[in-house]
Amino acid sequence: MVASSTRYRPEGNEGKSVININAITIRRPDDWHVHFRDGAMLQVAVPFTARQFRRAIVMPNLIPPVTTVEMACAYRDRINMAVPDGIDFEPLMTAYLTDSIDADELARGAEEGVFSAVKLYPAGATTNSDSGVTNLKKVAGVLECMQAVGLPLLIHGEVTDPEIDIFDREARFIEQKLIGLRADFPELKIVFEHATTKDAVDYVLSQEGNVGCTITAHHLVINRTDIFKGGIRPHLYCLPIAKREVHRQALRAAASSGDKRVFLGTDTAPHPVHEKESDCGCAGIFSAPTAMEVYTQVFDEEGALDKLEAFASINGPEFYGLSINEETVTLVRDVAELPGRIETAEGETVIVFRPDAGLNWRTKT
Ligand code: DOR
Ligand code: ZN
Repeated sequence: MVASSTRYRPEGNEGKSVININAITIRRPDDWHVHFRDGAMLQVAVPFTARQFRRAIVMPNLIPPVTTVEMACAYRDRINMAVPDGIDFEPLMTAYLTDSIDADELARGAEEGVFSAVKLYPAGATTNSDSGVTNLKKVAGVLECMQAVGLPLLIHGEVTDPEIDIFDREARFIEQKLIGLRADFPELKIVFEHATTKDAVDYVLSQEGNVGCTITAHHLVINRTDIFKGGIRPHLYCLPIAKREVHRQALRAAASSGDKRVFLGTDTAPHPVHEKESDCGCAGIFSAPTAMEVYTQVFDEEGALDKLEAFASINGPEFYGLSINEETVTLVRDVAELPGRIETAEGETVIVFRPDAGLNWRTKT
């Protein structure tokens, strides 16, 4: 990491100097959790991620879900076709875990370098999760195989019992599912995706080896009260839903700690406006155009810009056993002019996530 700074002495603060970092250069980051969708949406979504990140773990929750090597290769081809010329970007594909998925198919996909991981959606937990796992016992053989071949399991960690309060579903998942899963498969590599609670980061940081977590940009910025600020804010609705302020603070502390178990995953998840602003709006926040600027702003606010590179560019590849990117990116303290909304070729609009307070970092081009 290289930082450029100016030294100044604020009025009334004689004798003390303050370091004000105005630019930071880090290894090019990767995004360990994205939703690109397909068709016209994919065409507009991919360039925003590829502009910023060299690799991305691509979620498989299409309709129908990505469950075979052939489907993953075809999807990867469609993503690659949408990458703008001259941009070096590599999509890392995942398989969608179902009750009946074939373990040999996953092992073959891993062996052929197609599958980088397998995603566990508890059935009914979130968008396009209907084909997800109904009972972990049904996939015990598959998890055994993944553990043996070193294929990571990426977990949407929420229980699905409708009786459980939505704000408690992540913490209950850890108690009711994750602890047992870890005991049964101690060598299985697990990423607890989009951690939203103190419970989740405390759990991950208490574990020695094989467990990491991703943290989104939006969960570092919003808490559950923000979803209702001045009225209901459908573009701040995602799953797992943002929690109380104490949890947001725990996420900020974990992300900016530099701990190797914690890394960047935006969970950028575009939905057309009419599906968000509806009687029953979809979960998902589209953050790809602004995510890196938001993360940088958060690390700046935390006084932890020196930890940004570990979180964004080093911890993820080390967890996955991949090389760290050679290239660098520079972010500068400046007003960022980034789109507030984007349009697909089919005339659908998607709202872009941004903090209410605005953005004061931008990527140098
Ligand atoms: O908010 C979410 N949106 N959470 C998920 O787990 C899925 C995602 C989507 O696919 O839209
Ligand atoms: Zn997701």
